[in-house]
Amino acid sequence: MSTYSPRGELRIGLIGAGWVTQHHLTAWRALAGRARVVAIADPDRAKAQDRAAAFGIAHVYEDAAAMLAAGGLDAVDIAAPRAAHADLVRQVSATGLPMICQKPLAPTLAEAQALVAEVAGRSRLMVHENWRFRAYYRDAAHWLKSGRIGRVKAARLVLATSGTVPDAEGRYPALERQPFMRTETRMLVAEVLIHHLDTLRMLLGPLVVSAAVLSRTCPALAGEDGAVIQLESAGGAGIQLFASFAVHGAPPSQADWLEIIGETGTLRLDGATLSCMGHAPETRHYDLAETYQGSYTATLAHFLDALASGAPFETAPEDNLETLRLVEDCYRLSGWDAGETA
Ligand SMILES: NC(=O)c1ccc[n+]([C@@H]2O[C@H](COP(=O)([O-])OP(=O)(O)OC[C@H]3O[C@@H](n4cnc5c(N)ncnc54)[C@H](O)[C@@H]3O)[C@@H](O)[C@H]2O)c1
Repeated sequence: MSTYSPRGELRIGLIGAGWVTQHHLTAWRALAGRARVVAIADPDRAKAQDRAAAFGIAHVYEDAAAMLAAGGLDAVDIAAPRAAHADLVRQVSATGLPMICQKPLAPTLAEAQALVAEVAGRSRLMVHENWRFRAYYRDAAHWLKSGRIGRVKAARLVLATSGTVPDAEGRYPALERQPFMRTETRMLVAEVLIHHLDTLRMLLGPLVVSAAVLSRTCPALAGEDGAVIQLESAGGAGIQLFASFAVHGAPPSQADWLEIIGETGTLRLDGATLSCMGHAPETRHYDLAETYQGSYTATLAHFLDALASGAPFETAPEDNLETLRLVEDCYRLSGWDAGETA
Protein backbone atom coordinates (compact mmCIF):
# COMPACT_ATOMS: atom_id res chain seq x y z
CA MET A 1 0.00 0.00 0.00
CA SER A 2 1.45 3.36 -0.93
CA THR A 3 1.95 5.80 1.96
CA TYR A 4 -0.86 8.24 1.73
CA SER A 5 -0.59 11.77 2.99
CA PRO A 6 -3.48 13.85 1.74
CA ARG A 7 -2.89 17.57 1.45
CA GLY A 8 -5.52 20.22 0.91
CA GLU A 9 -8.90 19.41 -0.56
CA LEU A 10 -9.11 15.75 -1.63
CA ARG A 11 -10.41 15.09 -5.14
CA ILE A 12 -13.11 12.42 -4.93
CA GLY A 13 -14.36 10.21 -7.76
CA LEU A 14 -17.93 8.96 -7.17
CA ILE A 15 -18.99 5.63 -8.72
CA GLY A 16 -22.76 5.40 -9.13
CA ALA A 17 -25.40 8.11 -9.52
CA GLY A 18 -28.44 6.34 -8.06
CA TRP A 19 -30.86 7.14 -5.23
CA VAL A 20 -28.34 7.04 -2.40
CA THR A 21 -25.92 9.47 -4.05
CA GLN A 22 -28.18 12.45 -3.26
CA HIS A 23 -27.12 11.82 0.35
CA HIS A 24 -23.45 11.19 -0.50
CA LEU A 25 -23.25 14.37 -2.52
CA THR A 26 -25.02 16.46 0.12
CA ALA A 27 -22.53 15.08 2.64
CA TRP A 28 -19.52 15.79 0.42
CA ARG A 29 -20.84 19.33 -0.08
CA ALA A 30 -20.96 19.75 3.72
CA LEU A 31 -17.30 18.66 3.79
CA ALA A 32 -16.16 21.23 1.19
CA GLY A 33 -12.67 22.46 1.94
CA ARG A 34 -11.64 18.96 3.03
CA ALA A 35 -12.88 17.12 -0.05
CA ARG A 36 -14.70 17.77 -3.33
CA VAL A 37 -16.35 15.38 -5.81
CA VAL A 38 -14.62 16.13 -9.12
CA ALA A 39 -15.81 13.15 -11.21
CA ILE A 40 -18.81 10.81 -11.36
CA ALA A 41 -19.24 7.53 -13.28
CA ASP A 42 -22.45 5.65 -14.05
CA PRO A 43 -23.40 3.55 -17.10
CA ASP A 44 -26.64 5.55 -17.05
CA ARG A 45 -25.05 8.73 -18.36
CA ALA A 46 -28.19 10.81 -17.98
CA LYS A 47 -28.30 10.08 -14.24
CA ALA A 48 -24.62 10.94 -13.86
CA GLN A 49 -25.15 14.16 -15.79
CA ASP A 50 -28.12 15.13 -13.61
CA ARG A 51 -26.05 14.66 -10.46
CA ALA A 52 -23.11 16.52 -12.03
CA ALA A 53 -25.34 19.46 -12.91
CA ALA A 54 -27.00 19.57 -9.49
CA PHE A 55 -23.76 19.31 -7.50
CA GLY A 56 -21.24 21.04 -9.78
CA ILE A 57 -19.18 17.95 -10.67
CA ALA A 58 -16.68 18.69 -13.44
CA HIS A 59 -16.26 15.30 -15.15
CA VAL A 60 -18.84 12.68 -16.14
CA TYR A 61 -17.98 9.12 -17.24
CA GLU A 62 -20.01 6.12 -18.32
CA ASP A 63 -17.74 3.69 -16.63
CA ALA A 64 -15.53 3.61 -13.59
CA ALA A 65 -12.51 2.25 -15.48
CA ALA A 66 -12.46 5.35 -17.71
CA MET A 67 -12.75 7.64 -14.68
CA LEU A 68 -9.89 5.86 -12.90
CA ALA A 69 -7.75 5.86 -16.08
CA ALA A 70 -8.21 9.62 -16.46
CA GLY A 71 -6.49 10.09 -13.06
CA GLY A 72 -6.58 13.29 -11.03
CA LEU A 73 -8.27 11.60 -8.02
CA ASP A 74 -7.19 11.25 -4.39
CA ALA A 75 -9.94 8.88 -3.20
CA VAL A 76 -12.98 7.01 -4.50
CA ASP A 77 -16.53 6.69 -3.18
CA ILE A 78 -18.36 3.57 -4.44
CA ALA A 79 -22.17 3.79 -4.38
CA ALA A 80 -23.08 1.31 -7.14
CA PRO A 81 -25.36 -1.75 -6.63
CA ARG A 82 -24.08 -4.54 -4.39
CA ALA A 83 -23.41 -6.95 -7.29
CA ALA A 84 -20.88 -4.46 -8.74
CA HIS A 85 -19.00 -3.72 -5.50
CA ALA A 86 -16.35 -6.46 -5.63
CA ASP A 87 -15.32 -5.72 -9.20
CA LEU A 88 -15.20 -1.97 -8.49
CA VAL A 89 -13.20 -2.41 -5.27
CA ARG A 90 -10.70 -4.54 -7.24
CA GLN A 91 -10.43 -1.87 -9.94
CA VAL A 92 -9.81 0.89 -7.41
CA SER A 93 -7.35 -1.19 -5.41
CA ALA A 94 -5.29 -1.66 -8.60
CA THR A 95 -4.75 2.12 -8.58
CA GLY A 96 -3.71 2.17 -4.89
CA LEU A 97 -6.26 4.92 -4.15
CA PRO A 98 -8.13 4.79 -0.83
CA MET A 99 -11.84 4.11 -1.11
CA ILE A 100 -15.11 3.87 0.76
CA CYS A 101 -17.64 1.33 -0.51
CA GLN A 102 -21.36 1.18 0.28
CA LYS A 103 -22.75 -1.80 2.14
CA PRO A 104 -23.13 -4.69 1.59
CA LEU A 105 -19.50 -5.09 0.57
CA ALA A 106 -20.48 -8.16 -1.51
CA PRO A 107 -23.63 -10.26 -1.99
CA THR A 108 -22.36 -13.10 0.26
CA LEU A 109 -19.93 -13.46 3.16
CA ALA A 110 -17.69 -15.79 1.12
CA GLU A 111 -17.37 -13.23 -1.69
CA ALA A 112 -16.61 -10.47 0.80
CA GLN A 113 -13.97 -12.57 2.57
CA ALA A 114 -12.24 -13.36 -0.75
CA LEU A 115 -12.32 -9.69 -1.73
CA VAL A 116 -10.94 -8.46 1.59
CA ALA A 117 -8.08 -10.98 1.46
CA GLU A 118 -7.26 -9.97 -2.11
CA VAL A 119 -7.14 -6.19 -1.64
CA ALA A 120 -5.52 -6.20 1.83
CA GLY A 121 -2.36 -4.09 1.81
CA ARG A 122 -3.07 -2.57 -1.62
CA SER A 123 -5.53 0.23 -0.85
CA ARG A 124 -7.21 1.55 2.25
CA LEU A 125 -10.84 0.41 2.26
CA MET A 126 -13.66 1.57 4.51
CA VAL A 127 -17.17 0.12 4.33
CA HIS A 128 -19.93 2.74 4.24
CA GLU A 129 -22.04 1.80 7.27
CA ASN A 130 -23.77 5.04 8.18
CA TRP A 131 -26.51 3.79 10.57
CA ARG A 132 -24.05 3.48 13.46
CA PHE A 133 -23.07 7.13 12.82
CA ARG A 134 -26.60 8.41 13.53
CA ALA A 135 -26.43 10.95 16.35
CA TYR A 136 -28.84 9.07 18.67
CA TYR A 137 -26.89 5.82 18.29
CA ARG A 138 -23.61 7.63 19.00
CA ASP A 139 -25.22 9.14 22.14
CA ALA A 140 -26.63 5.74 23.16
CA ALA A 141 -23.16 4.18 22.73
CA HIS A 142 -21.69 6.91 24.91
CA TRP A 143 -24.30 6.35 27.63
CA LEU A 144 -23.72 2.58 27.57
CA LYS A 145 -19.95 3.02 27.72
CA SER A 146 -20.16 5.42 30.63
CA GLY A 147 -22.16 2.84 32.63
CA ARG A 148 -25.47 4.71 32.68
CA ILE A 149 -27.56 1.50 32.71
CA GLY A 150 -25.05 -0.99 34.08
CA ARG A 151 -24.50 -4.43 32.62
CA VAL A 152 -26.82 -5.13 29.69
CA LYS A 153 -29.20 -8.03 30.24
CA ALA A 154 -31.53 -7.82 27.22
CA ALA A 155 -32.33 -5.71 24.17
CA ARG A 156 -34.90 -5.53 21.43
CA LEU A 157 -34.87 -3.52 18.24
CA VAL A 158 -38.05 -3.16 16.23
CA LEU A 159 -38.51 -1.84 12.71
CA ALA A 160 -42.13 -1.85 11.55
CA THR A 161 -43.15 -0.16 8.29
CA SER A 162 -45.80 -0.49 5.58
CA GLY A 163 -43.15 -0.13 2.86
CA THR A 164 -44.31 -3.27 1.05
CA VAL A 165 -48.04 -2.86 1.76
CA PRO A 166 -49.82 -1.55 -1.37
CA ASP A 167 -51.14 2.02 -1.12
CA ALA A 168 -54.49 3.18 -2.55
CA GLU A 169 -53.02 3.12 -6.10
CA GLY A 170 -51.54 -0.35 -5.60
CA ARG A 171 -47.98 0.97 -5.33
CA TYR A 172 -45.48 -0.23 -2.74
CA PRO A 173 -43.83 2.81 -1.07
CA ALA A 174 -40.46 1.10 -0.39
CA LEU A 175 -40.25 -0.16 -3.97
CA GLU A 176 -41.14 3.23 -5.42
CA ARG A 177 -38.21 4.64 -3.47
CA GLN A 178 -35.75 1.85 -4.30
CA PRO A 179 -37.01 -0.30 -7.20
CA PHE A 180 -33.99 -2.63 -7.06
CA MET A 181 -35.43 -4.10 -3.84
CA ARG A 182 -37.93 -6.02 -6.01
CA THR A 183 -35.35 -8.37 -7.51
CA GLU A 184 -32.89 -8.97 -4.66
CA THR A 185 -33.48 -12.52 -3.37
CA ARG A 186 -31.73 -11.42 -0.18
CA MET A 187 -33.68 -8.26 0.60
CA LEU A 188 -34.63 -7.16 4.11
CA VAL A 189 -31.65 -8.53 6.06
CA ALA A 190 -28.96 -7.93 3.40
CA GLU A 191 -30.25 -4.50 2.40
CA VAL A 192 -31.77 -2.96 5.53
CA LEU A 193 -31.22 -5.00 8.71
CA ILE A 194 -27.50 -5.19 7.92
CA HIS A 195 -27.50 -1.65 9.36
CA HIS A 196 -29.32 -2.72 12.51
CA LEU A 197 -27.05 -5.71 13.02
CA ASP A 198 -24.01 -3.47 12.57
CA THR A 199 -25.43 -0.88 14.99
CA LEU A 200 -26.24 -3.55 17.60
CA ARG A 201 -22.60 -4.75 17.33
CA MET A 202 -21.41 -1.16 17.83
CA LEU A 203 -23.64 -0.78 20.91
CA LEU A 204 -23.41 -4.22 22.51
CA GLY A 205 -20.14 -5.76 21.26
CA PRO A 206 -19.68 -9.14 19.56
CA LEU A 207 -22.92 -11.00 18.77
CA VAL A 208 -23.99 -14.41 17.54
CA VAL A 209 -27.23 -15.27 15.78
CA SER A 210 -28.96 -18.23 17.43
CA ALA A 211 -32.13 -18.31 15.31
CA ALA A 212 -33.74 -16.48 12.41
CA VAL A 213 -37.14 -16.77 10.78
CA LEU A 214 -37.55 -14.85 7.51
CA SER A 215 -40.79 -14.34 5.60
CA ARG A 216 -42.23 -12.75 2.47
CA THR A 217 -45.64 -11.11 2.41
CA CYS A 218 -45.37 -8.82 -0.64
CA PRO A 219 -45.90 -10.72 -3.92
CA ALA A 220 -43.83 -8.17 -5.86
CA LEU A 221 -40.64 -9.22 -4.04
CA ALA A 222 -38.11 -11.92 -4.86
CA GLY A 223 -36.72 -11.70 -1.32
CA GLU A 224 -37.97 -11.38 2.25
CA ASP A 225 -39.80 -8.47 3.85
CA GLY A 226 -40.07 -9.87 7.39
CA ALA A 227 -37.49 -11.12 9.90
CA VAL A 228 -37.41 -12.23 13.52
CA ILE A 229 -33.82 -12.68 14.59
CA GLN A 230 -32.58 -13.93 17.95
CA LEU A 231 -29.05 -12.96 19.00
CA GLU A 232 -26.82 -13.27 22.05
CA SER A 233 -24.02 -10.92 23.12
CA ALA A 234 -20.64 -12.05 24.38
CA GLY A 235 -21.78 -10.76 27.80
CA GLY A 236 -24.76 -13.17 27.75
CA ALA A 237 -27.52 -10.66 26.93
CA GLY A 238 -30.45 -11.90 24.84
CA ILE A 239 -31.26 -9.64 21.90
CA GLN A 240 -34.16 -9.68 19.47
CA LEU A 241 -34.34 -7.91 16.13
CA PHE A 242 -37.95 -7.84 14.97
CA ALA A 243 -38.62 -6.29 11.59
CA SER A 244 -41.23 -6.14 8.87
CA PHE A 245 -42.00 -3.90 5.91
CA ALA A 246 -45.45 -5.49 5.65
CA VAL A 247 -47.14 -4.00 8.72
CA HIS A 248 -50.62 -2.67 7.90
CA GLY A 249 -51.20 0.58 9.78
CA ALA A 250 -47.48 1.35 10.25
CA PRO A 251 -45.90 4.38 8.54
CA PRO A 252 -44.30 3.71 5.13
CA SER A 253 -40.91 5.04 6.18
CA GLN A 254 -38.48 3.68 8.73
CA ALA A 255 -38.05 4.71 12.37
CA ASP A 256 -36.23 2.44 14.80
CA TRP A 257 -37.56 1.47 18.20
CA LEU A 258 -34.92 0.13 20.58
CA GLU A 259 -34.96 -0.85 24.23
CA ILE A 260 -31.83 -1.92 26.10
CA ILE A 261 -32.38 -3.21 29.62
CA GLY A 262 -29.43 -2.95 31.96
CA GLU A 263 -28.97 -3.93 35.60
CA THR A 264 -29.34 -0.32 36.80
CA GLY A 265 -31.30 1.39 34.05
CA THR A 266 -33.07 1.24 30.71
CA LEU A 267 -32.20 2.97 27.50
CA ARG A 268 -34.97 3.56 24.96
CA LEU A 269 -35.04 4.99 21.46
CA ASP A 270 -38.55 5.70 20.22
CA GLY A 271 -38.31 7.30 16.78
CA ALA A 272 -36.87 10.74 17.42
CA THR A 273 -36.54 10.45 21.22
CA LEU A 274 -33.74 8.79 23.15
CA SER A 275 -34.27 8.30 26.89
CA CYS A 276 -32.23 6.93 29.72
CA MET A 277 -34.12 5.72 32.79
CA GLY A 278 -32.50 4.77 36.07
CA HIS A 279 -30.07 6.57 38.37
CA ALA A 280 -29.08 9.19 35.74
CA PRO A 281 -32.26 9.92 33.75
CA GLU A 282 -32.07 11.98 30.58
CA THR A 283 -34.12 12.51 27.42
CA ARG A 284 -32.90 13.87 24.11
CA HIS A 285 -34.87 14.74 20.96
CA TYR A 286 -33.53 14.60 17.42
CA ASP A 287 -34.64 15.85 14.03
CA LEU A 288 -35.01 12.58 12.08
CA ALA A 289 -34.31 14.03 8.62
CA GLU A 290 -31.29 15.94 9.88
CA THR A 291 -30.00 12.88 11.72
CA TYR A 292 -30.44 10.75 8.60
CA GLN A 293 -28.44 13.09 6.37
CA GLY A 294 -26.02 13.75 9.23
CA SER A 295 -25.13 10.06 9.37
CA TYR A 296 -23.79 10.20 5.80
CA THR A 297 -21.79 13.32 6.58
CA ALA A 298 -20.38 11.77 9.77
CA THR A 299 -19.44 8.58 7.89
CA LEU A 300 -17.58 10.45 5.17
CA ALA A 301 -15.98 12.78 7.75
CA HIS A 302 -14.70 9.67 9.56
CA PHE A 303 -13.24 8.42 6.26
CA LEU A 304 -11.39 11.73 5.81
CA ASP A 305 -10.26 11.85 9.47
CA ALA A 306 -8.78 8.36 9.29
CA LEU A 307 -7.08 9.08 5.96
CA ALA A 308 -5.50 12.19 7.45
CA SER A 309 -4.41 10.57 10.72
CA GLY A 310 -3.62 7.07 9.46
CA ALA A 311 -5.90 5.67 12.19
CA PRO A 312 -7.94 2.53 11.40
CA PHE A 313 -11.44 2.97 10.02
CA GLU A 314 -14.16 2.10 12.52
CA THR A 315 -15.84 0.08 9.78
CA ALA A 316 -12.67 -1.42 8.31
CA PRO A 317 -13.20 -4.59 6.24
CA GLU A 318 -12.20 -6.89 9.13
CA ASP A 319 -14.84 -5.27 11.34
CA ASN A 320 -17.46 -5.31 8.61
CA LEU A 321 -16.94 -9.02 7.95
CA GLU A 322 -18.34 -9.57 11.45
CA THR A 323 -21.54 -7.78 10.43
CA LEU A 324 -21.66 -9.76 7.18
CA ARG A 325 -21.22 -12.96 9.21
CA LEU A 326 -24.41 -12.10 11.15
CA VAL A 327 -26.25 -11.39 7.87
CA GLU A 328 -25.08 -14.70 6.41
CA ASP A 329 -26.09 -16.56 9.58
CA CYS A 330 -29.64 -15.17 9.30
CA TYR A 331 -30.00 -16.62 5.80
CA ARG A 332 -28.28 -19.90 6.74
CA LEU A 333 -30.25 -20.52 9.93
CA SER A 334 -33.57 -19.63 8.32
CA GLY A 335 -32.89 -21.78 5.25
CA TRP A 336 -33.95 -18.80 3.13
CA ASP A 337 -31.53 -19.25 0.19
CA ALA A 338 -32.58 -22.89 -0.12
CA GLY A 339 -36.22 -21.81 -0.30
CA GLU A 340 -37.09 -23.60 2.93
CA THR A 341 -39.28 -20.73 4.10
CA ALA A 342 -41.54 -18.29 2.31
N1 LIG B 1 -26.26 3.38 3.65
C1 LIG B 1 -27.54 3.49 3.35
O1 LIG B 1 -28.34 3.89 4.18
C2 LIG B 1 -28.00 3.14 1.97
C3 LIG B 1 -29.24 3.58 1.49
C4 LIG B 1 -29.60 3.23 0.18
C5 LIG B 1 -28.75 2.47 -0.61
N2 LIG B 1 -27.55 2.05 -0.10
C6 LIG B 1 -26.62 1.23 -0.89
O2 LIG B 1 -26.12 2.04 -1.96
C7 LIG B 1 -25.92 1.24 -3.12
C8 LIG B 1 -26.70 1.86 -4.27
O3 LIG B 1 -28.06 1.97 -3.90
P1 LIG B 1 -29.07 2.96 -4.67
O4 LIG B 1 -30.30 3.02 -3.81
O5 LIG B 1 -28.41 4.23 -5.03
O6 LIG B 1 -29.41 2.13 -5.99
P2 LIG B 1 -29.97 2.64 -7.38
O7 LIG B 1 -30.50 1.44 -8.07
O8 LIG B 1 -30.86 3.82 -7.19
O9 LIG B 1 -28.67 3.20 -8.14
C9 LIG B 1 -27.60 2.40 -8.54
C10 LIG B 1 -26.85 3.17 -9.62
O10 LIG B 1 -25.62 2.49 -9.90
C11 LIG B 1 -25.45 2.47 -11.31
N3 LIG B 1 -24.54 1.39 -11.65
C12 LIG B 1 -24.80 0.09 -11.94
N4 LIG B 1 -23.65 -0.57 -12.18
C13 LIG B 1 -22.64 0.34 -12.07
C14 LIG B 1 -21.24 0.27 -12.25
N5 LIG B 1 -20.62 -0.87 -12.54
N6 LIG B 1 -20.52 1.41 -12.10
C15 LIG B 1 -21.13 2.57 -11.80
N7 LIG B 1 -22.44 2.68 -11.59
C16 LIG B 1 -23.20 1.58 -11.74
C17 LIG B 1 -26.86 2.33 -11.87
O11 LIG B 1 -26.92 2.74 -13.24
C18 LIG B 1 -27.64 3.24 -10.94
O12 LIG B 1 -27.64 4.59 -11.40
C19 LIG B 1 -26.36 -0.19 -2.73
O13 LIG B 1 -25.23 -0.92 -2.33
C20 LIG B 1 -27.29 0.04 -1.55
O14 LIG B 1 -27.29 -1.06 -0.66
C21 LIG B 1 -27.17 2.39 1.15
